[in-house]
Amino acid sequence: MCLLPCMMTGHLLIYVMVSIFVTISYSPPQISVHYIAPGASANSGALASHPLGPFWNLRLEESALWNRLQHIWDRQHNPILHGNTTGVMRKPKTKLSPSVEEEYIIDCMSYKCLVHQLHDYNSLPEQMRAFIRSMHCRQYPLLINQPDACGGNKSFGLETPMLLMAIKSQVGNFENRQAIRETWGQSGLVKGELNRKGGLVRTIFLLGRQDSSTGPHPDLRNLLDLESQKYKDILQWDFRDSFYNLTLKDLLFWHWLQQYCSTAVFVFKGDDDVFVRTGALLDYLHKQWEEHNMWRAYRNETDMMLDLFVGDVINNARPNREPATKYYIPESFYKGVYPPYAGGGGVVYSGSLALRLREVSERVRLFPIDDVYLGMCLHRLGLSPSHHPGFLTFDLPETERDKPCAYRSVLLVHKRSPKEMLTLWKQLQALPAQC
Ligand SMILES: *[C@@H]1O[C@H](CO)[C@@H](O)[C@H](O)[C@H]1NC(C)=O
Ligand SMILES: *[C@@H]1O[C@H](CO)[C@@H](O)[C@H](O)[C@H]1NC(C)=O
Ligand SMILES: *[C@@H]1O[C@H](CO)[C@@H](O)[C@H](O)[C@H]1NC(C)=O
Ligand SMILES: *[C@@H]1O[C@H](CO)[C@@H](O)[C@H](O)[C@H]1NC(C)=O
Repeated sequence: MCLLPCMMTGHLLIYVMVSIFVTISYSPPQISVHYIAPGASANSGALASHPLGPFWNLRLEESALWNRLQHIWDRQHNPILHGNTTGVMRKPKTKLSPSVEEEYIIDCMSYKCLVHQLHDYNSLPEQMRAFIRSMHCRQYPLLINQPDACGGNKSFGLETPMLLMAIKSQVGNFENRQAIRETWGQSGLVKGELNRKGGLVRTIFLLGRQDSSTGPHPDLRNLLDLESQKYKDILQWDFRDSFYNLTLKDLLFWHWLQQYCSTAVFVFKGDDDVFVRTGALLDYLHKQWEEHNMWRAYRNETDMMLDLFVGDVINNARPNREPATKYYIPESFYKGVYPPYAGGGGVVYSGSLALRLREVSERVRLFPIDDVYLGMCLHRLGLSPSHHPGFLTFDLPETERDKPCAYRSVLLVHKRSPKEMLTLWKQLQALPAQC
């Protein structure tokens, strides 16, 4: 009599086991789609950090190196798994927590394990291999510092810069830096274009190391020392200045900013081969700042911070898989689409956001393309960059470049040589009257 019920129960058990097995072995077809919590792209700020990859990935061991390393950090810093100690905090911490610092040291020593995890390591281009070997080191000492580069100007009653311009440069680019100092990067009180308030601008240059220890470079150390003593606007860190190391400049600059310039209202970060219409940029920033303050007063939230990040925004970009190109990212290193990011030449963000970016960057693995890395950090803060049509990564049409009036609505244009900067600067002084 027991036979029938027993057989039925047996079948049921087999069915359940098969279903469970099928469910477990199923992997979602589109691994690259980001998990985005509802409302996460709004500018609300008080959001938990969330993983870039899928929430539930059963095939992690097949994934790419960066994704795997990031997954480890995501688990370690997951506020749901580990309480609220490492969630997104509004107040900047002054120091890395010891556990994070310890982990850096361990990681720095054990890069060799990483190399073994990449099956095609030996066939990768040398710069990618160099990046992988050093991607766990992110603390490099300052060789040249300027603790006072961010000071206010007491004679105007200005305590802090309205705009700190941080420009990525290389040791040998003396001419670019000098042209910038004489034109759009002048330090001091700069007028707005519409003769509105303007503001205090401070400029610094971000340099890595380029000497005989990092490749076949002529020794320019004495010249650089001289320049740095004269202009007091050079920051240099002890790492090899290469394309894939540019992300380090952002990270180390944020650390510097927090220590020496944490009250700057806005930050421009750009390259030394762009042209910026600083006066017009100040006008734009003033408008944003006033609107923010009005909104803050209206909401009566005195500690509400301005989350501004603008540039030439690129959406839904995919990694370049062409090994011969500058932006090549192998599939074994990174899988998935890029988060929205601002590319090319320069971006502007608020000082308060810079401090939050520094904090969140401790939980985002280094990525060889600096613009994308910033997009990744923003994404983790639940923010996305805003597009501004005045940021011209790909320049004006060729026929327009010589006409000053064509620059009326331009904030930044890429790219200009030092000579072109001087010429353009002179032409644009008379802009409002002509157009
Ligand atoms: C969680 O956050 C609250 C307030 O931010 C804090 O008082 C509390 O100590 C935190 N809990 C843990 C476990 O860190
Ligand atoms: C303040 O501005 C005035 C006028 O531009 C300038 O002469 C002076 O050197 C500035 N002081 C500082 C500390 O930058
Ligand atoms: C970045 O800098 C570090 C420190 O100088 C160096 O070891 C590494 O090879 C550099 N990476 C690249 C891709 O040049
Ligand atoms: C704004 O908030 C403060 C305390 O947070 C309160 O004392 C004050 O009355 C509020 N002002 C208005 C206009 O609501």
